[in-house]
Amino acid sequence: MENIKIAPSILSADFSKMGEEIISLENSGADIIHCDVMDGVFVPNITFGIKMVNDIRKLTKLPLDAHLMIINPENYVEQFAKAGADFITVHYEACKEKLASVLQKIKNAGVKCGCVINPDTDPEKIKDVVPLCDMILVMSVFPGFGGQKFIPSALDSLRKVKKMILDSKKDILLEIDGGINLENVSLVKDAGADVIVAGNTVFSASDRSEIIKKLREN
Ligand code: DX5
Ligand code: ZN
Repeated sequence: MENIKIAPSILSADFSKMGEEIISLENSGADIIHCDVMDGVFVPNITFGIKMVNDIRKLTKLPLDAHLMIINPENYVEQFAKAGADFITVHYEACKEKLASVLQKIKNAGVKCGCVINPDTDPEKIKDVVPLCDMILVMSVFPGFGGQKFIPSALDSLRKVKKMILDSKKDILLEIDGGINLENVSLVKDAGADVIVAGNTVFSASDRSEIIKKLREN
């Protein structure tokens, strides 16, 4: 499956040595760096913000995928774009009726845009904005923490969103995020995922190159 991209989530990294962790991911064959931004309001956890993305940008050429788990993301997209994010994804649940305008704001900032849906959000809710997206992220856990268990109903959402993408005839990446491991990675690929986020599976592995290779090839 040559078109599968592996995007390790740095939420599971050791923040005290984030620089080394980024270089380790690049040397281990990661395709994308998934940056989980959390504000403690949209999700019950706080991680990092614009400066982290800016500092990581200096260390790697890999695409940075900023997953904004924050309220009012429209107030920050330009700063994340300036900081060097290549993708900025925002939650339907945080944007609701302003989702299209937030996606447009990301595009205007010269960055690839995407929307995210939680496991209990009907994919129909984002149908109208699909043509605006460069990527669509389906959550297979409720956002806020790494190391959670995969929610199987995400497979139905993946298939529904994949159909919307194919019907749009646009080049849109389908990303899956949450609880991905060697047992379920083939299921999400069969359901249409192009980009696989993995935090705990990668950072708990003794050999990161091997686990990234297996996630890509299984
Ligand atoms: C959860 C984050 C995910 C998470 C993935 O809110 O959006 O990216 O870090 O970590 P694992 O793969 O451990 O579920
Ligand atoms: Zn994420």
